[in-house]
Amino acid sequence: MHYVHGEWNLLTKSCVVCKREGIVYIPYARASFCREHFIEFYNRKILRTLRNSGFKSGKILVGVSGGKDSVSLLYALSVIRKEMNLEIEALHINLGIGRYSLESHNAVKKLEKILPDIRFHYFDLRELGFTIPEVVKAIKRPACSVCGAVKRWILNKFAYEKGFEFIATGHNIDDISTFYLKALLTQRIEDIMRGPEPLTPGSPDLRLVGRIRPQFYLSEMENTLYATLQNLPFVDFPCPLARGATLFKYKNLWKEILSTNPVAQINFVKSIIAIKKRIPKETQKLKSCEICGYPTTAPDGVCFVCRLRKKFGVL
Ligand code: AMP
Ligand code: FES
Ligand code: ZN
Ligand code: ZN
Repeated sequence: MHYVHGEWNLLTKSCVVCKREGIVYIPYARASFCREHFIEFYNRKILRTLRNSGFKSGKILVGVSGGKDSVSLLYALSVIRKEMNLEIEALHINLGIGRYSLESHNAVKKLEKILPDIRFHYFDLRELGFTIPEVVKAIKRPACSVCGAVKRWILNKFAYEKGFEFIATGHNIDDISTFYLKALLTQRIEDIMRGPEPLTPGSPDLRLVGRIRPQFYLSEMENTLYATLQNLPFVDFPCPLARGATLFKYKNLWKEILSTNPVAQINFVKSIIAIKKRIPKETQKLKSCEICGYPTTAPDGVCFVCRLRKKFGVL
């Protein structure tokens, strides 16, 4: 059996490393791997992405949602932690999205048992006075954008207070390439300029913790396969609030492009990152929120989360 383009296939090719029977073909690498050597290939890729991003070592908070990406990320980082001199802890945020959040929480709890020497933290959004479905009902903004802003605030505040140097998230090449494709096709130049990179430095005077995205050049398919081969627990159905997001439609465009050129997605993102490097960075107009002190771009100086806390009567 062979795993090609996200599907099991009866093709069998031998592993490029050990010549035993392969179980997966990675089209952009034009290589088949056995279980053991796919896992090694994956861990090496995470390590290389970190090193190439300029990351040296440090104390990292991993945002773990319970999905295949971040579960694989935490596990792979735990494997390479000695080599990279990493200190890792994990944070899971309960967003209060019914069965989805419940099962996500359960998956993270199971992962905690598999990784007993990593410290896990849990934060329940209700501590802020609301859940994501309540916010979505109260204000007219797409669920994912509300949810993303709230998660960023929590991860950043938690990491800053506990002295973490970086936050690691499980963004993959499918997310990143689609983000930039949509930004280009809709002329959102600001989005391109502020879009994700393998490493975004922090800004301690603004209480902004740096970001690393070690799966920047790994696909959803590779993350799913890694989680499956390592027997990791993960939630394998999508968030019910994210259904119908236009981003999914743009994401589907990649299937056609990749069938013509399997390296296209990686080359596309590498080209954008290379172009961005040649353009002088505009300093973002960040200021400290008048209420919580964490960074915001809001013209009135009150961040999105503090506005929500006011709206829900918690402040
Ligand atoms: P998303 O915004 O859902 O695309 O998630 C992007 C990344 O944010 C994930 O790969 C995780 O690293 C992190 N993340 C998402 N949801 C959570 C959560 N509930 N708790 C902690 N981290 C999360
Ligand atoms: Fe954030 Fe679904 S996980 S909207
Ligand atoms: Zn092999
Ligand atoms: Zn605030």
